[in-house]
Amino acid sequence: MNLRHTLYLLLTCLSLTTSTILQNGQVRETNYPDTKIDASLYNFQSFPPNSTELSYKGRWDSKYISWWSAPGLKFGFTGDTVAITFGNHTSNGVLIAYRLSDLDWQFTNISTSSTHLLISPSTPGINTTYPINPHTLELRITNWAYGLQISSIHLAPSASLIALPNYGRKIEVIGDSLKIEVIGDSLSAGDLATLEGLSSYAFGLGEGIGETEYSITAYPGVCAADRQCWGNARGMVWQWWYTSDTSPRAGELYGGEPESWDFGREEEADVVVICLGTNDANEHNQVSEEEFVDAYRRLIMGVKGVWPGTKIVIVSLWNGFYANGNSYAQAGAFTQPLHTLYTTFNTPSYLQNPMLYNHTTNSTYTTNTPFEPFVYYFNTTGILNHNDISPLYHPTDFGHVKVASHLMAFFRWVLGWELRNGGRMVQSGTEYWNDVGEY
Ligand SMILES: *[C@@H]1O[C@H](CO)[C@@H](O)[C@H](O)[C@H]1NC(C)=O
Ligand SMILES: *[C@@H]1O[C@H](CO)[C@@H](O)[C@H](O)[C@H]1NC(C)=O
Ligand SMILES: *[C@@H]1O[C@H](CO)[C@@H](O)[C@H](O)[C@H]1NC(C)=O
Ligand SMILES: *[C@@H]1O[C@H](CO)[C@@H](O)[C@H](O)[C@H]1NC(C)=O
Ligand SMILES: *[C@@H]1O[C@H](CO)[C@@H](O)[C@H](O)[C@H]1NC(C)=O
Ligand SMILES: *[C@@H]1O[C@H](CO)[C@@H](O)[C@H](O)[C@H]1NC(C)=O
Ligand SMILES: *[C@@H]1O[C@H](CO)[C@@H](O)[C@H](O)[C@H]1NC(C)=O
Repeated sequence: MNLRHTLYLLLTCLSLTTSTILQNGQVRETNYPDTKIDASLYNFQSFPPNSTELSYKGRWDSKYISWWSAPGLKFGFTGDTVAITFGNHTSNGVLIAYRLSDLDWQFTNISTSSTHLLISPSTPGINTTYPINPHTLELRITNWAYGLQISSIHLAPSASLIALPNYGRKIEVIGDSLKIEVIGDSLSAGDLATLEGLSSYAFGLGEGIGETEYSITAYPGVCAADRQCWGNARGMVWQWWYTSDTSPRAGELYGGEPESWDFGREEEADVVVICLGTNDANEHNQVSEEEFVDAYRRLIMGVKGVWPGTKIVIVSLWNGFYANGNSYAQAGAFTQPLHTLYTTFNTPSYLQNPMLYNHTTNSTYTTNTPFEPFVYYFNTTGILNHNDISPLYHPTDFGHVKVASHLMAFFRWVLGWELRNGGRMVQSGTEYWNDVGEY
């Protein structure tokens, strides 16, 4: 516990630095191609960040600064060139994943106040027009603590931006550090998911299920209860209502007064996955069971208040494993209270006369429109094994993929969703196998 605390504090003091990262004992390459250019040497057609053809994914604020985990930007374009100028609120050196249409993720580090050429006539696939027309550019930020600020988009002369329709379905994942990596790239350990937000189960679910919008309002160390937990000033019952997260970056820019999230800017989520409580359960944060349950209840009632049609999935907490004699056992946390929340929201007395929560007034209210059952329980017991958790308490890449796969199965068999990924890459860097056919 203390180790984790120390690491978290260390993290908040570190800026992006070049360091050795080990994955399975091998040095991880971080010398991604440098895409920075001198924009004055190019003849571009430029577009402002509020162009209506741009789709911002996840939460971006009024200054076009990104927040939370794996936020993105997507648009269609004509021509063979895409460059982007990033503003001074861009975290210097932040790693992004980007891709041309449905081709594989590429990676590059972005510098503050600079222009990067992401697509050019020599980008593989740029001359392919079938069956993808127009081409699209999508980028995602890998690290939860860092962000981009979009200043302008540049295309080839006389090329144009093309608006892309949103996919017709949307998932929201609300959570804490288990979705993403608390320590990330700041320490030279091989124990953490290699691409942070882009290795998380939340991304694996949202991206993997295919043709789905997703937003991951998750931040390492955060509690459900409105408490200072591992350096996060507020808990999710409060912070979920705001555009920015609980990072030091947000603290510097907005202090305790972040922009309210305008729910009118996005479509209602069809399903909200909540995975919170591991930090509340940690004795370091001193959150009682009663306070945790109250916060979780208000979060569910608040989400349902803004998105009346949504379904909510409570994820049970694995909370690590311990050696149990000559075997292993899952620790779990708040197992019974979370299950009781699920059953309580499904009682006829609640559904007939539902109580909701308004964050603005910080009070509950009742509606006289009955609800169909909308709260589900996703039992994670048995999905992970002790070696799917890294020595730094978080799922390994493999653990994240297992949780994502089981959630996809839950969406398919319990919620009735089709899987629609046509085969394009979800996780990058996971293609390792035995290439010796005969021994
Ligand atoms: C690029 O990002 C990776 C991952 O955050 C980091 O390890 C590396 O040091 C960065 N490189 C540069 C040149 O900023
Ligand atoms: C974009 O912002 C500019 C400058 O603030 C403004 O003049 C323009 O009307 C905005 N465009 C749209 C589409 O909102
Ligand atoms: C960032 O850029 C904006 C707009 O160009 C400018 O007003 C502001 O002073 C800059 N801030 C810093 C810290 O450089
Ligand atoms: C795409 O076509 C242009 C024009 O023919 C050519 O210059 C460029 O090399 C081609 N790009 C690729 C990646 O093949
Ligand atoms: C919450 O209360 C405020 C202030 O009374 C009101 O303007 C707002 O519409 C309410 N929100 C919801 C989701 O009911
Ligand atoms: C909201 O109300 C609860 C009691 O219902 C209280 O404990 C909490 O401090 C209030 N939060 C804020 C931000 O006022
Ligand atoms: C969750 O799954 C475990 C393992 O199958 C089982 O023992 C437990 O009863 C389940 N919990 C609930 C609430 O169904």
